[in-house]
This record gives sequence, structure tokens and C-alpha cells, in this order.
Amino acid sequence: MNHFMCYLKLFGVLLLRIPEIRDYVVNKLNYILNPRSIAVVGASRSPSKIGHQVVRNLLDSGYKGKIFPVNPKADEILGLKCYPTVSAIPDDVDLVIIAVPAPLVKNAVIDCANKKVNGMAIITAGFSEVGNKEEEDEIVKIAREHEIPIIGPNIVGLLNSTYRMNASFAQDLPYSGKIALISQSGALIIGLIGWTWLYKVGLSKVISIGNKADVDFSELIVYLTEHDPETNTIAIYMEGTDAGPELVEACKRAAGKKPIIILKSGFSKRGELATMSHTGSLAGSARIYKAAFMQSYVIQAEDLFDLYDKALALSLQPPAMSDNILVITNGGGAGVLATDAAEKYGIPLSDTPPDLAEKMKNYMPPFGSTKNPIDLTGQANEEWYYGSIVEAVKHSEVSGVIVIYCHTAITDPAKIATKIAEASKIAREYKKPIVACFIGGKEVEDAADWLKEQGVPTYPVPSRTVRAMAALREYGKIIERANLRKKKP
Ligand code: COA
Repeated sequence: MNHFMCYLKLFGVLLLRIPEIRDYVVNKLNYILNPRSIAVVGASRSPSKIGHQVVRNLLDSGYKGKIFPVNPKADEILGLKCYPTVSAIPDDVDLVIIAVPAPLVKNAVIDCANKKVNGMAIITAGFSEVGNKEEEDEIVKIAREHEIPIIGPNIVGLLNSTYRMNASFAQDLPYSGKIALISQSGALIIGLIGWTWLYKVGLSKVISIGNKADVDFSELIVYLTEHDPETNTIAIYMEGTDAGPELVEACKRAAGKKPIIILKSGFSKRGELATMSHTGSLAGSARIYKAAFMQSYVIQAEDLFDLYDKALALSLQPPAMSDNILVITNGGGAGVLATDAAEKYGIPLSDTPPDLAEKMKNYMPPFGSTKNPIDLTGQANEEWYYGSIVEAVKHSEVSGVIVIYCHTAITDPAKIATKIAEASKIAREYKKPIVACFIGGKEVEDAADWLKEQGVPTYPVPSRTVRAMAALREYGKIIERANLRKKKP
């Protein structure tokens, strides 16, 4: 797509298109993402089929709502009574998961419309991503006429860890937390759910959006920021959108309420082609997307690690409200790496305030350094970590602390982690963020995992740790900009 078209799609400037964020969609997303009852159309008798797996996942995940398998050829699936159609279900239905082949989807949608369900999520592939736009449009038209939102088609499903609802064919619910993940790629979702357990990145909801033929990012963003108390951070994997003005509008509405981090792919020549055949989206120019994101208070991610690293920090810690970040380390080399990264990611370190430097001497040997980074030296114990962090967060000229621990034979990472967690509680009282870097082997990794569970985002290398703190600073600036905007007459 040429850059001019991309600009139009994103900003809609010349068309003077007024962004349309549909209220009925936002309202019904509450039923779709927290459904009291779910019907599965295409609930197969065969365990190897997707429709069967969705019913199994609902049961295995501990979903407490009602489950209605729909299959005209079966009486019972996994011990549940089966219905020939959705309209034959005697109860109200909030969400319908559709997993029948593409030629059967339209009739299923008409059936759902007759039943007046609250929403549909269409797993089925074979629509606009393979050129079958006409049928996709017909389905959307029916749904819109009846004001029943559709998520998808071409998705893996929907997951809600608070509700213990796995309405998808992903293997498991994610590790539970406050981040809502929206992804245009279903396969990535499945992989990233595995990562949540590996890296202790807690998700509240996972929304596979696929071709986004009806519900787009914008309506999900508005719902998640304004109506979902289980979510405090939104992480998005995006290939492209045709609804640029709506996206910009939704992100502006969210500004300062909940952080939004977007990883946008498809910026290379071949990546653009791959995007088109994956979800039928137009990838567009990097420059134009980046400008749109900047304008709409979005924090951008460079890769999948970055998306999760930033989301983890933003979901667990308050924003940094000035650039004055202090680094406390027990290793000089790690401190230098952090210093370089701080410059690279836009939060260059400044000197420790003199009165704080004086106090820091209580937590280090005479050969330690009170400059920023503060080097407690290799003999730093847990009390020194605790004391120095607490002094730092109490100081009015410090807005956040990066704590680095390099493993030594004379220190116990579990004890260090315990005292950092205690100090982080005091930091929270002062509304100052703490992020940590734990460098070492298995026992260090275990301590880092525990620390994350206590609410301190912890990473294995200084660069990722600093980048996470830079995201907390970026969000602090977004809050300031959003507040200024509100004050403007
Ligand atoms: N209503 C409900 N169920 C119906 C039906 C109807 N009108 N007509 C048929 N069914 C039943 C079938 O009989 C079958 O059950 P059975 O196995 O007990 O006989 C079940 O629905 C599934 O139908 P089937 O024809 O076997 O389809 P399938 O399971 O092989 O494939 C999809 C269906 C949706 C999985 C497939 O078309 C598809 O799109 N796969 C790709 C999904 C994907 O990758 N999505 C994106 C992820 S990122």
C-alpha cells in the first residue's frame, strides 16, 4: 500500500471521517468476555477436532457458567447435552464460539441472530485472509443488523483468567494477572500463553482478534480501559488496521487511564505481503504508524520480549514521574551496562543528590561508590540493599530505582529478593517504581520469579530492566500530557 493511502486509513484526515466507536459493541463486550453461558457450534464428537477441544477446555479450565455444545449429529459431548442449533437452547446465551467449516458459518450466524445472543467469536478460517471477503462481509452485515458483535473470524478463541474461562483451542489458561493481551495472530497467542508461565507475566484476558471483520482494536481498548476492573494494562500484537481513526480515538480516550503497549509487525516489504495473507490486513508504513502511535499516547514495543517486559512493569509498578532514576548494584559491570542502556532508552542517569550520596555510605564498604550507579560492591548483603533502596525512594529527587543483583558465593538470592520486596512496599507508599535485574543461575532465577510474584518486575539482563523502567517513565510522561490536554479549555 502506498504511504498516502496508509496515512488516510490511519488518520482519515482528508476524508474527515469521524471515528465511530459503537456503544452497543462496548456494552456487549462485557457479556462476550465475561459470559454467563457459552454455546459451542461445531462441538465435535472427535477429540482431535477444534470444536471438541473448545468444550474440553471450558470444562478443564473450571469455567463456572453454562456450556451448551451445538452439533446436529450428536446427543451428548463430554457429558453435556448437545443441541442441534443455538436457537434450540432453552436458556439465554451470552457468547457463541463458532467452529464449523466456513461454508456453514453464515447459517450459524443467522441462527445466533434469531436467538438474540450477546456475541459471537468465530474460530473458523477461510475468509478475507484467503480472499473470501464477500462471505465475511455478508456475515458481518447480518451481525451488525442485529447488533451482535463478532470477534474474528480466524481466531484461536477467548480466555479470561479471572473467570477461569478457556473458550479457545489454546492449551491452557495464562498465568493470572492484570494485563489484557489482544493479538491478531492466534498461533502467537498460544505460544505467548506458555511464556506467561515461564516468565511470570500475568494476564487477565487473552483476546484473539484475527481478521477483525467486525470488532476492531478500538472497541476492545475502550471496553478494557473503561469497563474492565480486572485489567490495568493493555498489550497488543498488531499487524495492521483499516480503522485508524477509531484506533487513535480509542487510545486517546485511554490516555492516562491504563497504559497501552503495541507491537506492530509487517514493516518489511515481505512482511507486508505476509500480513495480507495472514489476517487480510494492510500492514502500512512504519513511519506513519509510529507517528500515529506517538500522537495517541501508545507505548511502542520492539519485539515480543519488549512487549511482555514493558507490560509486566506497567502492570505491577506505578509510573516514574521524572527522569531521576537511580541504579543500585552490587556489580560494577552490570552498573555500566545499565548506564549505557539508560542513555539509549532516553532516561540518562544523573548524579546522586549529595545528601543522598552521604546517606548511601551507610550501606557499602569504604571502597563502594555513591555515584549513580550506586555500587554497593560484591559484598553487599540484603540489609544494604534494603537500606539503600529505602533511602533512595524516600528522597524527593529520586523518581524510581533500578536494582541489580549479580550472584556471588557469599550472598543468598532468596534473602536479597525478600528484602527488595520489603523495600518495594515502602517505594509503593511513595508512588515510586522499582524494577530489578537478577543475574545468575537457577537459584537466582527462582528468586527472580518469586520477586515478580511479589510485584517487582525482574529481568535477567540490565538492558531489558532499564528498557522496562524507561516504559514506566514514558507512561509518566503520557499521564502528564493527558492531564495537560484535559486542562486545556
Ligand atoms: N452446527 C453445528 N455443528 C455442525 C453443523 C452445524 N450446522 N454441521 C456440522 N457440524 C458438526 C460436524 O458434524 C462436526 O462434528 P462431528 O465431528 O461430531 O461430526 C463438527 O461440527 C465440526 O465440523 P467438521 O466438518 O468436522 O469441521 P472441522 O472440525 O474439521 O473444522 C474448523 C472446522 C472451524 C476447525 C475449520 O474449518 C477451520 O477453520 N480450521 C482452522 C481454524 C484456525 O486455524 N483458526 C485460526 C486460528 S489462529
